[in-house]
Amino acid sequence: MRNILITGGAGFIGSHVVRLFVNNYSEYNIVNLDALTYAGNLENLKDIEALSNYTFIKGDICDYNFIKEVFAKYSIDAVIHLAAESHVDRSIKNPFAFAQTNIMGTLNLLEAAKNSWNNDFENKLFYHISTDEVYGSLGDKGLFTENTPYDPHSPYSASKASSDHFVRAFYDTYGLPIVISNCSNNYGSYQFPEKLIPLFINNICNNKPLPVYGKGENIRDWLFVNDHARAIDVIFHKGKLGETYNIGGFNEWKNIDLIKVLIKTVDKILGREEGASEKLISYVKDRAGHDYRYAIDSTKLKEELGWEPSLQFEEGIEKTVKWYLDNNAWVDNVTSGDYQKYYKEMYE
Ligand code: NAD
Ligand code: DAU
Repeated sequence: MRNILITGGAGFIGSHVVRLFVNNYSEYNIVNLDALTYAGNLENLKDIEALSNYTFIKGDICDYNFIKEVFAKYSIDAVIHLAAESHVDRSIKNPFAFAQTNIMGTLNLLEAAKNSWNNDFENKLFYHISTDEVYGSLGDKGLFTENTPYDPHSPYSASKASSDHFVRAFYDTYGLPIVISNCSNNYGSYQFPEKLIPLFINNICNNKPLPVYGKGENIRDWLFVNDHARAIDVIFHKGKLGETYNIGGFNEWKNIDLIKVLIKTVDKILGREEGASEKLISYVKDRAGHDYRYAIDSTKLKEELGWEPSLQFEEGIEKTVKWYLDNNAWVDNVTSGDYQKYYKEMYE
């Protein structure tokens, strides 16, 4: 048996990773540690919560003594670290929370792993999940490779860049066995509706304005979340220690074009006239420091570890829209209470 600590497993990507590992590896004990912030939701894992190789612990990665106890109690052999504050707009309003969780929380986990493993690093691994935003912003040409210099612009990406540096520093200084992956924008089920795709699907359904930042010309590179989880599985098992792997689907979209695809897909499923919801598009003030373009070169992951995305974007978007429409109760649950306050502060 291997005891694997997955942090942030009640969040969007984390819940897909936990589900994949619990279902596919009965020989692993999966310990999901999550603080259940606004972004964490145990409803995301209802289907696997009763399985015998799964344990949930509520707790904060910023509490070092607690993390130390978790390593000792569960004899943790490997960590897949996803817990983070993840929304750029929130980082602009409250950067402290991002430094606290993303930098100090990661440092706590590294220190707890180092001390618990006590130089016996055989079969141990600290896998840190990062983002393409650490590389900064591209012009119209070029792709981020694993050698692109870090150039973060938002408090969120600055905190993720800092955590990546700490992870590499623990490899160089203490020999802690680490691996890092930097992924592009994810979409799919269970994403909190503060991020573009679930927010806009929900607003189109409810005939609410669609707040497009600036001119809608920024470009993102979208990957279906299940493909990210599959990449994490491959890197966890086959990744080379000390290495970084970029994850992306070579799937760039200008925001406004993507929004039109969302409108078309939702309108079609709801039986509305084609393009009826385009009237909801509302151009609003741009995000401060808005990165123009992200685009990932994931050639290394394909050539060295054999991973490729499994899904075409059109298919992924249709599946995703259907999931949000079929899961009204989940959407209603996460958009009640504090979400309303957040929405007012951010958009009204
Ligand atoms: P999310 O916001 O949906 O989930 C984050 C999870 O972390 C939540 O369950 C939350 O409760 C938990 N958490 C937050 N603070 C915590 C703390 N102090 N202690 C313990 N748990 C805490 O985020 P996500 O979109 O699933 O992203 C997961 C990871 O993947 C993050 O590290 C993010 O930087 C990275 N990432 C995200 C994307 C994306 O498109 N969403 C792309 C690339 C990388
Ligand atoms: O690239 C990976 C990153 O992708 C992850 O590290 C982050 O955790 C994740 O949140 C995401 O960051 P973005 O800022 O790219 O995602 P977001 O969904 O917030 O925004 C996508 C684009 O849509 C961006 O150009 C801003 C724009 N946007 C977003 C919102 C929420 C709007 O125009 N209007 C909006 O209301």
